[in-house]
Amino acid sequence: MVLGACQPVPTVESQSVTGTPIATSVATQTPATSSVPVAYPDRELSASPAQLPKLPYAYNALEKAIDAETMKLHHDKHHAAYVNNLNNALKKYSDLQNRSVEAILRDLESVPEDIRTTVRNNGGGHLNHTIFWQIMSPNGGGQPTGEIAEEINKTFGNFEGFQKQFNAAGSDRFGSGWVWLVRNPQGQLQITSTPNQDSPIMEGLYPIMGNDVWEHAYYLRYQNRRADYLNNWWNVVNWSEINRRAQASLKQPA
Ligand SMILES: [Fe+2]
Repeated sequence: MVLGACQPVPTVESQSVTGTPIATSVATQTPATSSVPVAYPDRELSASPAQLPKLPYAYNALEKAIDAETMKLHHDKHHAAYVNNLNNALKKYSDLQNRSVEAILRDLESVPEDIRTTVRNNGGGHLNHTIFWQIMSPNGGGQPTGEIAEEINKTFGNFEGFQKQFNAAGSDRFGSGWVWLVRNPQGQLQITSTPNQDSPIMEGLYPIMGNDVWEHAYYLRYQNRRADYLNNWWNVVNWSEINRRAQASLKQPA
């Protein structure tokens, strides 16, 4: 489904916290996130030129969950490829070059058909990974703190219940994709997952935190044991940044 930032939003179907699909009617609302930067606290993500952001820590800094070689390949090769492919796709379309990755992904219908799938996959890949590096930290893990902790308890019962449901959604994502904690246009927290490199913003949802369940994210250390990766990943989750994102996601469009 492809939505423009200012268009009415049809029904969004997503995974409920209990695993049963739920339909959330948002037909008369503009996504609450339409003017809030998603990639960074203060700015959206440049599409042209798209640039590979530096990792905010060393390759081996997340060894509690992810080995250094995986981090190096993931960042230097996979993320770099999304950036390069996006730049190449936008080369002949100067009118798209001034728009952010977020703006383009929210309005994919406006992207010429010959590059639409490439932009969806690689723009999404660039945005998803840019968020991913920031919501992990060598000092991460432990219990959530601040307001997100309260919201998680309120929405999912307790942190353990939230982890269980998040991990289940990550395990259930068939093939490659992402599992997310998002805020929906009604301001509620929700667990969902997306295939491939699709971003929640394509459905008017603000990605607060997400885990990459592509095999390239875990296969060297965990092989086929995605569930072990999902369990260990909580040891590097950056609650301070996730708190910041959760608060940013509450901001309504001007
Ligand atoms: Fe990835």
